[in-house]
Amino acid sequence: MQLEDIKKIGVVGAGTMGQGIAQISALAGYKVILYDLQSSALDTAKKNIGKNLDKGIERGKVTAEEKDQALSSIAFSTDFELLKADIIIEAIVERLDVKKELFEKLENQNSEKTILASNTSSIPITRIARDLRHPERFVGMHFFNPAHIMKLVEVISGVATSDDTSKVVYELAKVLGKVPVMAKDAPGFIVNRVARNFYVEGLKVLEEGVSDVKGIDRLVEASGFKMGPFRLMDLIGVDTNFSVTTSMFNAFHQDPKFRPSRIQEQKVDAGHHGRKSGKGFYDYSA
Ligand code: NAI
Repeated sequence: MQLEDIKKIGVVGAGTMGQGIAQISALAGYKVILYDLQSSALDTAKKNIGKNLDKGIERGKVTAEEKDQALSSIAFSTDFELLKADIIIEAIVERLDVKKELFEKLENQNSEKTILASNTSSIPITRIARDLRHPERFVGMHFFNPAHIMKLVEVISGVATSDDTSKVVYELAKVLGKVPVMAKDAPGFIVNRVARNFYVEGLKVLEEGVSDVKGIDRLVEASGFKMGPFRLMDLIGVDTNFSVTTSMFNAFHQDPKFRPSRIQEQKVDAGHHGRKSGKGFYDYSA
């Protein structure tokens, strides 16, 4: 597969990340199929993409024609059989078993050339690819949140990923307006590994009663960070952030520096997943 052969991009998972990935793919002129198990997720995605493009128009970054063209290039679907494309980027729940099953099914219904990419934050690419027939066409393509704004993309090669595959994905990221960086496979890759203690220590400070959510965020933000750990977890998704920490904790053989927090787990249990659910460490219902 060459960059020029890519005409259609499949995006699996229409949540926080899939929406933005579909949006930038359509804006770059690709045909897009955005698939989710839940039609309600697709409805929300369509609404959010429309809103984001309207903001783009207000800021003079997108024209009204580009908005219409982008929205009409995206097929929103719950029909798995339609999920056929030149590259498929997965952005579903952060669980190895679910991702593996998905990619095995995708491999069966796509061409011999299709590149399969995962937006996983923390699961080793080599591990997801283990039972694929063509792990050489499997790669990590890790966007950052919000995907339609953040420039960085980590392109992660698993042990079996071919150079051709990672090069095409690297070039594609540039066409999507991103700044790609090649990384080797390791739990959490580069950014999530370096940044993990931002969340883990923030939660420990909270658990120890040193300060409260607002107090910690306010101090961290006053020191120059754009968002404190709790505001950022709410943006990321408290559930997703918890899964990433848990997956890294296990991948690093229970290294205590990555130990997940009970407070965070309880938020997940309560369905307080952050902005996307209307409540997390902060309340967004108003
Ligand atoms: P999310 O919870 O916002 O959305 C996930 C979507 O996937 C939901 O709409 C759900 O219905 C759908 N889904 C779940 N299982 C599915 C399946 N088997 N087939 C089709 N659809 C399915 O999740 P989010 O935050 O977008 O995360 C997705 C992936 O992206 C995860 O692997 C996460 O680690 C990664 N990621 C998340 C970032 C973030 O800040 N939220 C940043 C970078 C990567």
